[in-house]
Amino acid sequence: MSEPTPEEQTALVDRISADSLTTRRDYLRIVATVSGGLAVGSTLVAAGVLHRHGDGTAAPLKVADRLPEGRAVTFDYPGEDDRAMAIRLTDGTLVGYSTVCTHLACGVLWREDHAEEDGLFCPCHEGVFNARTGEVTSGPPPRPLPKVIMIEDELGAVWAIGTARSGESEQAGLCRGPVGRNPALARRAGCGSPR
Ligand code: FES
Repeated sequence: MSEPTPEEQTALVDRISADSLTTRRDYLRIVATVSGGLAVGSTLVAAGVLHRHGDGTAAPLKVADRLPEGRAVTFDYPGEDDRAMAIRLTDGTLVGYSTVCTHLACGVLWREDHAEEDGLFCPCHEGVFNARTGEVTSGPPPRPLPKVIMIEDELGAVWAIGTARSGESEQAGLCRGPVGRNPALARRAGCGSPR
């Protein structure tokens, strides 16, 4: 599926707004360019409107107004004690992870001066994760880093909009979270029957 034109994106967002959220006062509109190798990227390019409260999922969180290539930003998501990081890889791809090491929960660090294959490092026992995939590349961590699903809005700001469990795809995480609970977005994302 090709990317929608700007007119199609606008129409999609308007339709999603009309479908689901016109009665909600507290909402946030995100016209999104999904990046980071997101599996649903081709179908969710204009991601839409995500409401902030009431369905058990975290509100979208703006983590940076801009994130240059090769740089990272830390934040807490989905809860205020959930340490996370967004990284803009050198090819422009946007990725996000929990920074709680899957070994013994030390904090994982971004190594800007390393190749992305070993870009995420846990100093406690020298665990290393691939910055593009979150997979373990060396050391004792038993599982990949859980992902935080990141998008970039039309102004270049970076948002966290959901999470995927360790080893779970971004699409599965989105469908389990707010996208799956929004019938219009769920259809666009190929989530099957929305809950
Ligand atoms: S806590 Fe991260 S490698 Fe042990």
